[in-house]
Amino acid sequence: MNQTKRKTIIAGNWKMNKTASEAAELIDGILPAVQDACCEVVICTPFTSLVTAVEKCKGTNVHVGAENVHFEKSGAFTGEISADMLVDLGVEYVITGHSERRQYFAETNETVNKRTRAALAAGLKVIVCVGESLAEREQGVTEELVRLQTKIALKDVTAEEMQRIVIAYEPVWAIGTGRTATSEQAQEVCAAIRKVVGELYGSDVAEATTIQYGGSMNAANAQELLSKPDVDGGLIGGASLKPDDFGAIVAAARQ
Ligand code: 13P
Repeated sequence: MNQTKRKTIIAGNWKMNKTASEAAELIDGILPAVQDACCEVVICTPFTSLVTAVEKCKGTNVHVGAENVHFEKSGAFTGEISADMLVDLGVEYVITGHSERRQYFAETNETVNKRTRAALAAGLKVIVCVGESLAEREQGVTEELVRLQTKIALKDVTAEEMQRIVIAYEPVWAIGTGRTATSEQAQEVCAAIRKVVGELYGSDVAEATTIQYGGSMNAANAQELLSKPDVDGGLIGGASLKPDDFGAIVAAARQ
């Protein structure tokens, strides 16, 4: 984490959890737990909780994001949500390319790129997720795979738009498993991502880009992970649903 060059961002990804009423209650717990944050704090909620989240977080230090977005502006895409719909609600961030979307909803590198560009065009900030499976790590192709995912996700994204891009390195084998990457593993891949951003956009953009780690980050391991120079924050699943744990992770970003 290098706060002089780039923003540290701790973001919660609630996944398919909490009804809107439960979300209101959870946010009431989160707001006081993170009010002294020295980093940017984001909560990404299901679509059904976004109105509540935007309303409750207005005037606070917590920013609101969605978990996915469709790439078309409008039309016959039953069940989908456009970037303009999110912007109109007051949503600021969106996640693209989460491994659960890739795994269960046939998301590809190309559709991740289309969603990312549509979100940027509408003015959103985008948290683009990349990361290898266990088999890919064991085959020794982590870096190549993550480079490929990053390059395709960022195809036709301009250097100026990169100011609104956050990249989250989320090893699939560490998500929801309680098996966290070591801080060395997280650092190694986050540095490799920064290197590819540098190849695409130059070192100024690379140094200014926030690169998060995600995968079983919790109150106990956050400080060690965030101590690494290329780990600029976290994308938190399970622990983001517990105000005290999320607050402790946000506090760890202060060290
Ligand atoms: P967990 O923190 O539950 O492992 O989830 C990580 C994640 O997928 C965040 O997007």
